[in-house]
Amino acid sequence: MSTTPVKVAVTGAAGQICYSLLFRIASGALLGDTPVELRLLEITPALPRLEGVVMELEDCAFANLAGVQIGDDPEKVFDGANLVMLVGAMPRKEGMDRSDLLSANGKIFTGQGKALNKVAASDVKVLVTGNPANTNALIAMDNAKDIPRERFSALTRLDHNRAKSQLASKLGVGVGSVTNMTIWGNHSNTQYPDLYNAKVDGKNAFAQINDQDWYENEYIPTVAKRGGAVIAARGASSAASAANATVEAMHDWALGTPAGDWVSMSVVSDGSYGVPEGLISSFPVTCANGSYSIVQGLEINDFGKQKIAASVAELQTEQNAVRELGLI
Ligand code: NAD
Ligand code: LMR
Repeated sequence: MSTTPVKVAVTGAAGQICYSLLFRIASGALLGDTPVELRLLEITPALPRLEGVVMELEDCAFANLAGVQIGDDPEKVFDGANLVMLVGAMPRKEGMDRSDLLSANGKIFTGQGKALNKVAASDVKVLVTGNPANTNALIAMDNAKDIPRERFSALTRLDHNRAKSQLASKLGVGVGSVTNMTIWGNHSNTQYPDLYNAKVDGKNAFAQINDQDWYENEYIPTVAKRGGAVIAARGASSAASAANATVEAMHDWALGTPAGDWVSMSVVSDGSYGVPEGLISSFPVTCANGSYSIVQGLEINDFGKQKIAASVAELQTEQNAVRELGLI
């Protein structure tokens, strides 16, 4: 166990995801017994509310919370940060697509990318949860030219967890039986949850279902549109499950994925599986020693190829839109 606190910076710290996320980080769900120092960024009007959240963090008396700093200046809050979770962004409302948030949220990530480039620790890892997560991560990465591109990722772990849970429920097994799940593409309605390469109790998942109609017309839409279903039911976008996924994604990136399994992370494409180089798209990855590797050699059938191509086309449209907005 390291005794030097890891500096964990989180944005949108007074928002609803962080009301769950910060307490999970501070309680050890992210790094176990390693002490953490929280660096919390908010916009100026939200700082009084954030002070209330900090009071509650103090009142939990978490043994491994080595300190909390708050502020509205990214260059101060990100100074020396090792792990950065960019959550702060507007959520969509019912009837909107996540990409409708691009012009409102995209510009947040130019300034934050530049600030990270200037002041973050040399080993920084940046995980973007704020929507549209993939393209926001692309903006942050593009504005932080001195940080290796492999240090940026966007959250598709919530989709990954949804895909596992829906499959387990269909087959009447525990979620722990489901491994090797992959979300390909964008964190959006076009994402492709891949049952052809997933396993249940070590055996091919699709073969155990063997129902293309259910797969195409029920399973994929349920997983892909789950965020919208939560908004319709709750009147607000997912928060606790998003916080859980954010913690799990950063935990695995920093500490490694279990042997024999992989997770879904949106990372910069190196051209694997025909995804154009430079886009931030979701892939199956394994993590070890603080780095991820895209799992190679999976067989993608024609159906899968079409689904991935459609999601990638959407990512390219978003990339063009932020280029036109002058954000990259
Ligand atoms: P929220 O509105 O409750 O909180 C967002 C917070 O961000 C607010 O407190 C706001 O003041 C703050 N903020 C805005 N601009 C900021 C800036 N420039 N710097 C720092 N903080 C800033 O929203 P939420 O429910 O916590 O959701 C946050 C984001 O996460 C949304 O964009 C939402 O769509 C997204 N989200 C993503 C996933 C995913 O799986 N990728 C899942 C759920 C939600
Ligand atoms: C989700 O998937 O729950 C989030 O991206 C929130 C949303 O807008 O759907």
